[in-house]
Amino acid sequence: MANLDKTYKKVPGTTIFDAEQSAKGYHLNQFCMSLMKAENREKYLADEKAYLDSWEGLTEAQKQALLDRDLNAAMREGGNIYFLSKWGATLGQSFQQMAGSMTGMTEEAYRDMMLHGGRSIEGNRIADAEAGRAKVDEGRSAEEIAAAQKDDPMGDAVRAASGDAAEGHAQITGAVFTSHVPAIGAAMDLGKTEEPYWKAVFDGYEFSKAWMEQNRPDVVFLVYNDHATAFDLSLIPTFVLGTGAAYPAADEGYGPRPVPGIEGDPDFAAHIAHSLIQDDFDLTLVNEMEVDHGLTVPLSLMFGDVEKWPVKVIPFHVNVVQYPVPSGARCFKLGQALRKAIESYDRPLKVQIWGTGGMSHQLQGPRAGLINREWDNQFLDRLIENPADLATVPHLEYVEEAGSEGIELVMWFIARGAMSDIDGTGSIEVAHRFYHVPASNTAVGHLILTNHPDGSEAAQETAAATA
Ligand code: DHB
Ligand code: FE
Repeated sequence: MANLDKTYKKVPGTTIFDAEQSAKGYHLNQFCMSLMKAENREKYLADEKAYLDSWEGLTEAQKQALLDRDLNAAMREGGNIYFLSKWGATLGQSFQQMAGSMTGMTEEAYRDMMLHGGRSIEGNRIADAEAGRAKVDEGRSAEEIAAAQKDDPMGDAVRAASGDAAEGHAQITGAVFTSHVPAIGAAMDLGKTEEPYWKAVFDGYEFSKAWMEQNRPDVVFLVYNDHATAFDLSLIPTFVLGTGAAYPAADEGYGPRPVPGIEGDPDFAAHIAHSLIQDDFDLTLVNEMEVDHGLTVPLSLMFGDVEKWPVKVIPFHVNVVQYPVPSGARCFKLGQALRKAIESYDRPLKVQIWGTGGMSHQLQGPRAGLINREWDNQFLDRLIENPADLATVPHLEYVEEAGSEGIELVMWFIARGAMSDIDGTGSIEVAHRFYHVPASNTAVGHLILTNHPDGSEAAQETAAATA
């Protein structure tokens, strides 16, 4: 729970711009960014209200804060000073004028204070705020102080310890592993699933769709790799967590797949970001991103042809395109940290982790078409039975044994690391296993693991059966 400590909220007269604030202020901050263009500044200055009204997603409180020139209110509504500075500059305000305007001091008095050494730390610590003697609150109205304190006076850690999180917490109910070959999506979109070549592939997912009907989660944490779609060579992040509200299906050169849009879970994703980054996983967070076959094909395989995806999806991208790519061991550790992150979210959600990509395939060069059935099947065995050991396999072995694109398999360790047998709080069971060659250039591998917390009925049944 220490990961969720938000004690920083107690620092008097201070708003920390965390993922939660960012989600709250998303449209306000993006509006500010529009003022980096001269033509937009002109439009804004010609009619502030009209411009604000035309900006989608801004709340009335956010608009009013700007119209009132009330930066404290704008911060409360999720604004961040570096974004707001574009708005301030548009109105001819410097950083000093903006900062000063939030203190309740006159512009002159603030400048004077800075000339005399700045604001003193004395009287401006957390203890001063708690004792009601924080000097920083002098310039703020009682209403503002109350609003700031109401935000989160205790922090999640304290709240969890005090036991009023009676609603329960999120639980990982299972893991799904599957290849994500784009031609599988095309076969579905073009109505070819009954052709013998493709039927042999889809037959392996009949069980999965029926199982999914019975075991539908609220949220899928979907680990995949973007294939030069959202991230080209201008930006190469290793791990990307989607904290946005929605993700359209990308046009990969043959038009966007005719599948529903993907709904995210910004609040849950912000919580996961907080926990993982506190656990030293330096993630890139993305609010706007199109998603490619790596994400949409697994959804199609597991849910079939639907009007609307029946779950929310938190996308998680891993760079496996440009070396250096992360190791299996790093991904396995990330999965373990992910388990902590998910299970500490105080809403009773059922969550599945999906690992996608693989199995053996090589899409390039004279060795294209490489398939290694024996290696793939041993990978599946070891992933189930001894994932910690399997995770130490070096990149070279994937490339040599499973083809250059077989490296996608490192992503499976994120899902595997998040299972309860890894931290010793439960056991797993193999609900389904499927292997088939080929789909396009690839060996298709698919596993469903269910997760049983110790003491659960299913765990006891498994124990009895194996005794
Ligand atoms: C193929 C497989 C992939 O995983 C991918 O990302 C692209 C193509 C294929 O087998 O054709
Ligand atoms: Fe791929």
